[in-house]
Amino acid sequence: MNDSSARDKWSGRMAFVMAAAASAVGLGNIWRFPYLAAKYGGGIFLFVYVALAVTIGFTLMTVEIAIGRRTKLSPLDAYKSIAPKWQIIGWLGMAVPALIIAYYSVIGGWIVKFLAFYAKRLLEASPCPVTVAESKALFSDFTGGGSLQPLACSAVFAFCTAVLVLLGVRRGIEKSNKIAMPLLLVLCVAVAAMSLCQPGAAEGLAYYLKPDFSKFSWKTVVWALGQMFFSLSLAMGIMVTYGSYMRKEDSIPKCVFRIEFFDALVAFLAGLMIIPPVFTFLGEEGLKSEGPGLMFISLPGVFGKMTLFGASIGDVAGLLFFALAFFAALTSSVSIMETVVSSLRDRLGLGRTAAGMIVTIYMFVTLVPNSLCFANGGVFSCEILPGMRLLDFCDFAANNIFMPLCAFLTCVFAGWCIGPNWIVREIGIREGRFRLARPFAFMVKYAAPAAIALIFTFYILKELKIVEM
Ligand code: PHE
Repeated sequence: MNDSSARDKWSGRMAFVMAAAASAVGLGNIWRFPYLAAKYGGGIFLFVYVALAVTIGFTLMTVEIAIGRRTKLSPLDAYKSIAPKWQIIGWLGMAVPALIIAYYSVIGGWIVKFLAFYAKRLLEASPCPVTVAESKALFSDFTGGGSLQPLACSAVFAFCTAVLVLLGVRRGIEKSNKIAMPLLLVLCVAVAAMSLCQPGAAEGLAYYLKPDFSKFSWKTVVWALGQMFFSLSLAMGIMVTYGSYMRKEDSIPKCVFRIEFFDALVAFLAGLMIIPPVFTFLGEEGLKSEGPGLMFISLPGVFGKMTLFGASIGDVAGLLFFALAFFAALTSSVSIMETVVSSLRDRLGLGRTAAGMIVTIYMFVTLVPNSLCFANGGVFSCEILPGMRLLDFCDFAANNIFMPLCAFLTCVFAGWCIGPNWIVREIGIREGRFRLARPFAFMVKYAAPAAIALIFTFYILKELKIVEM
């Protein structure tokens, strides 16, 4: 169905790198990486993370991009076109973004709410800084108070995502990344600088960066691996889709290293923003929260305590922080929507607008239960499995089941079905000779599938409460 000559194309190498990096840099970098680093050995976690990214992460990302570029198809059809029996990988690769879309806008909506909250405080020049108790009340009233506000905020976020995707690869995704990504970096540096100016920052910094071997164990490796897959947007069909828009003259390995560098840089900066002030104002206890608890409850309270030359800078820091979180989340959200849209286009031969509208409707429809079911006091209080709301279920199914399964099958497919040389040849179009061909073959055939099987096993054992993680 696909007319490859009419396929969208990035305007250049940097456009591709920026788009893939924009997908990679997301909430995972902000609300999870610093927490994991603090918990699993500080500097040693950073080291393990980078080592895994340049080996296993590099391998899987290269495979996905090469498959996309060679077939010029998005995941659903890319695997099918190479080996029809393996099209299950395409379905898995498509299921992950389809499930994530269903709840990502909900979290995006919370960011919109906090952004508006800080903007209003700054406009009104609110005199009393936000405390942890206040942010806790704000967050739980907002998400669980039974009002339609979370739905409205999520709709704003979903609308922004849909507009960028409907505008297309060059006019929407590329153009917005050109603004969002440099801005995101500047905001990261600005908030990190504010954090590092606070009293006690040196101790917090040491806590973050000093390798603590007493906290190093197999768990460090398992968590770093899981974080790396999620953070690099692997096994979500995204890299196949974005690879399918890539020009033949660009070097895949060079692009992959750049994407990884950018992703690790933002994760590292997020640690600088978060760990020192949380350590100073809330102590080690404060570093035990992650995810929404860290972002929407602890951090606003911590920002509230920040001062510069005696004046409170909490609201400025809060506004900048939620602005950067907004850009990080929006560009990731765009990448998952684009993946689903692109797959629909390839499979059904639809135009961008038609496929985009279908996915937009799906996004809005799934947003309603996910947004309103969030807290038990919400408009509906629904658990679809004991102790698991719809949002948690989508998250669990996407990240703990489909993603590792898709990653594992992708490696087996590349390593044993088509063989590493298939990928190496695609890389060689630009490179001439791929110097890392031998280690790459080893990684794709043995190391990467083994590592993925390991994290999948741990996810299952953790869920069954057989191991404590
Ligand atoms: N890489 C993203 C992150 O770190 C993961 C992601 C990508 C999530 C796309 C959703 C959509 O948050």
